[in-house]
Amino acid sequence: MVAAEGMPFVKTGGLADVIGALPKALQALGVDVRVMMPKHRTVKEQYEDALETLATTTLQLGWRQKYLGVQTLRKDGVEYYFIDNEDYFMGPVYRGGDAENEQYLYFCKAVCEALALIDFTPDVLHLNDWHTGMVPMLLKTQYGGRQNGGRQDAAPTRNSYEARTLFTIHNIQFQGKMDFRTMKDMLSIPDYYYTPEYVEADGCANMMKAALVFSDRISTVSPNYAHEIMNAYFGLGMEGILSARRQDVSGILNGLDEVAFDPAHDPALAAPYDAGDLRGKLVCKRDLCRQFGLGGAGGGQSPHAPIVAMVSRLTAQKGFDLVRYALEELLTTEDVRFVLLGSGDRPYVDFFNYIAGKYPGRAGVYIGYDEALAHRVYAGADFFLMPSQFEPCGLAQMIAQRYGTLPIVRETGGLVDTVAPYNRFTGEGTGFGFATFNAGDMLAAVRLALSVYRDKPAMRKLRRNAMALDNSFARSAEQYLALFRAMR
Ligand code: ADP
Ligand code: GLC
Repeated sequence: MVAAEGMPFVKTGGLADVIGALPKALQALGVDVRVMMPKHRTVKEQYEDALETLATTTLQLGWRQKYLGVQTLRKDGVEYYFIDNEDYFMGPVYRGGDAENEQYLYFCKAVCEALALIDFTPDVLHLNDWHTGMVPMLLKTQYGGRQNGGRQDAAPTRNSYEARTLFTIHNIQFQGKMDFRTMKDMLSIPDYYYTPEYVEADGCANMMKAALVFSDRISTVSPNYAHEIMNAYFGLGMEGILSARRQDVSGILNGLDEVAFDPAHDPALAAPYDAGDLRGKLVCKRDLCRQFGLGGAGGGQSPHAPIVAMVSRLTAQKGFDLVRYALEELLTTEDVRFVLLGSGDRPYVDFFNYIAGKYPGRAGVYIGYDEALAHRVYAGADFFLMPSQFEPCGLAQMIAQRYGTLPIVRETGGLVDTVAPYNRFTGEGTGFGFATFNAGDMLAAVRLALSVYRDKPAMRKLRRNAMALDNSFARSAEQYLALFRAMR
């Protein structure tokens, strides 16, 4: 399994959660899983003494000779291989622009080289997102990999370069686009590959495109998103190749690491709780109010006001334009408290700082990235707002459900597959939903949620439904295993 980030070593978003949880779930099914990722600064800082060096060598990147170290570490029963090059990986995980393209072109090449340096021959290489996108093409055009994907050929894999490749799309918005010169300068790929049949998309070299052309199978992280990306609105230029390869595309829902996200045993929380006894959740709510200086919610003897929270990257994908439009109306017309934990794009940061300044006691804002605080927000809130414009799967809403915090989501991508919107006639549901990407519709969904909050038995029932969901990775791991088997 190859990726740019993974828990517990480095995390910027849900990809890391998946790379942290899926290997363990597959191992429980008897699969021998190894994980390969860059040795980012946090790995060096926290694990340097535990790492064992397997190889130190160089690789050719166009005209450059670049250092390549391969180091290994066993953690929680999983074997990790780290690609070591401090020039590329001691700075930000994603450097942005062409510096980032170069980081991950190097990574793809390094992964191919490293396969010959480790004592392990995979049957399947599971590649994740554009950062790994050139691997299938390099294997097939430069390392003697099988051209036909082996689908008619049941012979066992003889060397790592013959491994089948599965490419999983976690986020199609990021594709690794660059001008041809940048890619040509780093990878020695013949010119005839720089065409729309191979690595070109929209006049650029595109690493995700190369992955979608050359990998044996393609998957994405929810069944609904697998359909959506066949269309231009969601496919963002990849809809053509995805539709053409429709037969090879599947959608497998993400799951959670249910040990890492467990309100009954979460060291970050002020008090533990579970579906049978929610008293601890009230303690967590009070704690959250204290931390964010919120009044009238969870404070004193009778905590009354509901808390709507968000934990998110601050980007347009997550629906922050709707929030920017509607939040003040919400705060001034309803008895509600709002909490945000996030980091990202400047205009949203500015907006939330303005909100925090204007509505002290009603809105609490923490700009930054903080894993433990995130857990306390999931636990202390009543509702979790996630009005995404698009959402391949989304883990945050599943974490919220597990913590008994009801998600309010836009019905898109994986949010459709994971949140059953409240039905006021039957009382069923595991959250709230709205269909159109529109601030008024979002507000209406939040108001519906607030009305249910006032109806204690209805609220209790929804909380229980949400907490009873099986969002573990066990179920998804079986689907991955079936897919791996079908690729032999
Ligand atoms: P995405 O991967 O698109 O960001 P997901 O919902 O799949 O969205 O996963 C986001 C993950 O990152 C969740 O585990 C969420 O709790 C975490 N996260 C996002 N922003 C922050 C933050 N500022 N601090 C701590 N955790 C965060
Ligand atoms: C991406 C998506 C998110 C998904 C995560 C893990 O970051 O934006 O929806 O849950 O990857 O697959």
